[in-house]
This record gives sequence, C-alpha cells and structure tokens, in this order.
Amino acid sequence: MGYSYILPVTHIKGKTIELTTLLDTMKILVATEKPFAKVAVDGIRSVVEAAGFELALLEKYTEKKQLLDAVSDADALIIRSDKVDAEVLDAARQLKIVVRAGAGYDNIDLDAATRHNVVAMNTPGQNSNAVAELALGLMVYAVRNFYNGASGTELKGKTLGIHAFGNVGRNVARIAQGFGMKVIAFDAYCPDSAMLDANVEPVHSAEELYEKANIVSLHIPATEETKKSINRHLISLMPKGAILVNTARKEVINEDDLLQLMAERTDLKYLTDIMPAAHEQFVDKFADRYFSTPKKMGAQTAEANINAGIAAAKQIVDFFKTGNTRFRVN
Ligand code: 3PG
Repeated sequence: MGYSYILPVTHIKGKTIELTTLLDTMKILVATEKPFAKVAVDGIRSVVEAAGFELALLEKYTEKKQLLDAVSDADALIIRSDKVDAEVLDAARQLKIVVRAGAGYDNIDLDAATRHNVVAMNTPGQNSNAVAELALGLMVYAVRNFYNGASGTELKGKTLGIHAFGNVGRNVARIAQGFGMKVIAFDAYCPDSAMLDANVEPVHSAEELYEKANIVSLHIPATEETKKSINRHLISLMPKGAILVNTARKEVINEDDLLQLMAERTDLKYLTDIMPAAHEQFVDKFADRYFSTPKKMGAQTAEANINAGIAAAKQIVDFFKTGNTRFRVN
C-alpha cells in the first residue's frame, strides 16, 4: 500500500510542511530496554546519519516515563520487544513510523498506531537464524539432562515437530537436519510445497504434530487465536519423554495446563526463552525438567542485532525518502 509521509505531518502540526524541511529535522529514536550490540547501534547510526537524519538513543530504560519523555520529539522509532501502546503513541506527538526490529509485533498496539496515523513495520527474517540456533541449543540442553552429569540421549534420529513454518521454523528445520533429526511441521497458513522443498514432512493438524514429535519447537506468533492454545489437549498427545521448546511467546502456553500435566507426567520437559508468569512454580516443582532463560535471548546476538537494527533504519529512511511501506503491518 502506498503511503504519503506528508499527510501525517500535516495532520500532526495542522499545516503543510515542505518536504526538505521535514527531512532536515527527522529524529530517529532507538528505544531498547534490552539494547542492541554496540556494533549494531554504530551501523544504525551510519544509516541514519548518511540520510541526513539525527539519531537518539534510549537504552536499558527501567520506567515507562523515560520512554514517554524520549518519544515526545521523535519522528521515527526503532524498538525490540518494547511496548508501544496508546499512551506511548499519545506522547509521541511527531511520530510517523515505528519499526519493530524483529519478527513479532504483538508489543505494538496496531489499532492505536493506525488511529495516530503512525505506520508500523517489522523486519521479518532478520533475526531468525539466531532464534533458531537458540532453539536447537535448548534441545541439546534438554536431551543431555541440563548438563547434570547423567547419561543423556541424542537429537539424531528423534522426530522434531515444528509448530509454524515461518522464518524461524525454516531455520530450525535446516539446523535440525544437520543433527540428523527427522523434521515434520504443521502450519495452517503455509503450503505443503514450502515444507517439501525443505525436506520437511508436512502434517495437517496440530494434533498430528504433537502425537508424532519427540520434541516440539514453537514458532507461532501471539495472537487472539493462538493465546493459551498450547494446552493440555495438545501437550498430552506427546509421546513418552517429550520435550516442549518455546522460543516464541509465553502467551501461547496455557501455563495452568502445563503445570498440571508436568506434575502428572514426570517424563515431560519444558524449556523456554520467555519466562512464564508462573516461573517460580515451575522452578519449585520441576527444577530438573524445566528451564527458562532469565531474559529473552533468542535474538540477542551481534549478527541478529546488526541485521534487524540496520534493516529497521533502512526501512525508515526509505519510508521518508520514497514512501515505501513494504513491511507495514497495520
Ligand atoms: C522477535 O519477535 O523478533 C523475537 O522474539 C526477538 O525479540 P527481541 O528483539 O526482544 O529479542
């Protein structure tokens, strides 16, 4: 969809501003509670400054008020999992575009962004290898009994079920095949041909995936449809010794169901990169079968930061200079 960057400026300031004036004064704010690697910030700065724009940084902020203050004069915003809700958009009086440097954009209130005439984008695929590598790392950690010294098992020969075959799921499949795993996948929105091209066996229901897989790796987004959808019904279908790996979102898990099921089935392991709301309960009850990273680490590599951060900066520059809205999500 085409988009004119003149319109929101006119709307916000109540008058038409010359494009050259507009471009001279553009302020791009990078607001990251969990910062990018320095090398990525340097890259973002180069892109922004080469376009003649100004870069502002708000890193490791601890209170929303800091974000509300920082966005007040920003024309564009680059974020990660940082929450951009109606209050942030109200405070961001000059904002024309927000880019989530990453895949999932459930942290942006898209309706509020649209109401505020703010374009929202993501940078699909840019951090997916990093997340996929972490998913495989969690699998190795699980089959080797959390490196506790006891004899474990191998990934080779096991069946991996990939739940959603998007950018991360495809990278997980590629790496898992290197381990000698059999890879199957379920994705209601992906044609079988995309899976078959990657030597992945398509299955046609979530139930079939969970029944057949020794390990399920979650790559579904958090939407109204998927929230709490990974529930007792699905997980209980998994075979003995099953492992559930979550590098997607905590909201997709029905935590009450999982807590109950793990109490009933002492063979079940859960490893996650997104700390559950009930983390303490999981630790207390299942210390030897449950693991969570302390902070979401999947995309936390220099490479992923560079790829996603610089893609976000380039998308913003392109948006202002040419009106390109290719990765718009609202
Ligand atoms: C994503 O949606 O791109 C990943 O979950 C990574 O999120 P992060 O940028 O907050 O690490």
